Amino acid sequence: MKIDVFTLFPDWFDWFLSQRHVRNAVDAGNELRLFNYRDSTPLGGGQVDDAPYGGGAGMVLRVDVVDAALRAAYVDGREPSRVLVLAASGRQLDDVLARELASEPHVALLSGRYEGIDERVRDHLASDAVSIGPYVLSGGELAAMVVADAIMRKLPGALGHADSAVEESFSEALEGAPEYPHYTRPASYRGWNVPEVLLSGDHARVREWRLEESRRRGADGSGED
Ligand code: ADE
Repeated sequence: MKIDVFTLFPDWFDWFLSQRHVRNAVDAGNELRLFNYRDSTPLGGGQVDDAPYGGGAGMVLRVDVVDAALRAAYVDGREPSRVLVLAASGRQLDDVLARELASEPHVALLSGRYEGIDERVRDHLASDAVSIGPYVLSGGELAAMVVADAIMRKLPGALGHADSAVEESFSEALEGAPEYPHYTRPASYRGWNVPEVLLSGDHARVREWRLEESRRRGADGSGED
């Protein structure tokens, strides 16, 4: 699949692009492309934002600038199947949405800076808005990386073991619940012991225990990995 990120800070993604699972996904034929709004702005002096109508603090990314960036990127007519604006008020990212997006052939992520993006982008240029949580970030770049990461780890070949993304937190295999706890050697450390069942070699009991732990974590809301 293709993921296109529109941003004013493409170099923020250098680190992300160098991560092994991202490189693996790219080597497997997927693409992560970056587009800088400033490269295609129709305004002079590289301008991309303006003061908000009605007054208020901060600057707003202009709709004509975002439109120009999309037109320049898709001049060949190969438009994305989903265009997502990153916004704290959007649909909250979860495993269902990550899976949905991973099954798309081509997704564009529009990050804003400053106070936000002109609402007409969401109304007329985007298909949906996505949030990575109910808090406000200084811009959409980190959110775009989170969304791209959640998508890319679901793509075949991104992770070392094909199974790692199947039975992870919130997956169908775990009935949407958080993942069960993991342990490794030593079996006992400072009196902290690995649950006996995991040392038993009894695969059926291990499986049952893991599902039970996963359900318990789901029920008490302690969804950490
Ligand atoms: N931009 C600012 N805050 C955000 C959030 N929580 N999710 C996605 N994009 C954002």
